[in-house]
Amino acid sequence: MELQGNSVVWVTGGASGLGAASCKLFSKKGMRVALIDQNKEAAERVASEIGAIPFCCDVSDNASVEAVALDLVTKLGKPRVLLNCAGVATPAKIIGKKGLMPIEHFERLIQINLVGSFNMMRWAALHMSDVEPDDEGQRGVIISTASVAAYEGQIGQTAYAASKGGIVGMTLPAARELAPLGIRVNAIAPGVFMTPLMAAMSEEVQQSLASNIPNPSRLGNPDEFAKLAWHIIENNYINGETIRLDGALRMQPK
Ligand SMILES: NC(=O)c1ccc[n+]([C@@H]2O[C@H](COP(=O)([O-])OP(=O)(O)OC[C@H]3O[C@@H](n4cnc5c(N)ncnc54)[C@H](O)[C@@H]3O)[C@@H](O)[C@H]2O)c1
Repeated sequence: MELQGNSVVWVTGGASGLGAASCKLFSKKGMRVALIDQNKEAAERVASEIGAIPFCCDVSDNASVEAVALDLVTKLGKPRVLLNCAGVATPAKIIGKKGLMPIEHFERLIQINLVGSFNMMRWAALHMSDVEPDDEGQRGVIISTASVAAYEGQIGQTAYAASKGGIVGMTLPAARELAPLGIRVNAIAPGVFMTPLMAAMSEEVQQSLASNIPNPSRLGNPDEFAKLAWHIIENNYINGETIRLDGALRMQPK
């Protein structure tokens, strides 16, 4: 889809990592970027650095999502793009050193990563369905962030892999349902990227992770994620797909 300068783009998890890199690129492309994050202070700081507009929202909370959707449309107008990056990856074993995994752990990851992405998707779709279509009948693009853990989750990733598998699973039916409205739905499944989460790990851990990545044998750069998101936005023929972005990494059990 050819976006007009100033088109409204929603990015969740925009205050850090993959979301922040995407906000930066979209902003450079002249879009009006709504940087949505639960971390209000970080959202305001990053948004002011890159010329985005900060919005505070906890995507796992229905009332918070409903309120921010209304606020976004009131302040910026209807969106052309939603990029879901908000997510958490806390590991936990089913039977760990401290005993049985609390069911709340599993529920939390599903609620943030999967329900949060779906909830943002439904509000974005509602408002996108109302914008003027372009020459090819296109109104908008929705991209969610899955993970290679959706396909080969490691030990300790049952909850995370289930949440990301849910994103892969909902992508095609959502694309089919929203096709008559001119809204495309895709997902990106990143391998291992150098975000603040990874930067906090020791050089040794980073090198060990990188050594399992065939080519290029290094962690992904958030800018590479942002470039793929932008390509998906621009390329009308990518629809209903989850694209792996992983340097041919296939994760081992641990
Ligand atoms: N970094 C990687 O290697 C990698 C690999 C595969 C998938 N992913 C996925 O990519 C996405 C972004 O990861 P990242 O590495 O940039 O993480 P990050 O921790 O750097 O950024 C995540 C952002 O999401 C926000 N967030 C978390 N929970 C939220 C909530 N309930 N409501 C609103 N905002 C919330 C955080 O405040 C943070 O700003 C996640 O969904 C993650 O699972 C990352």
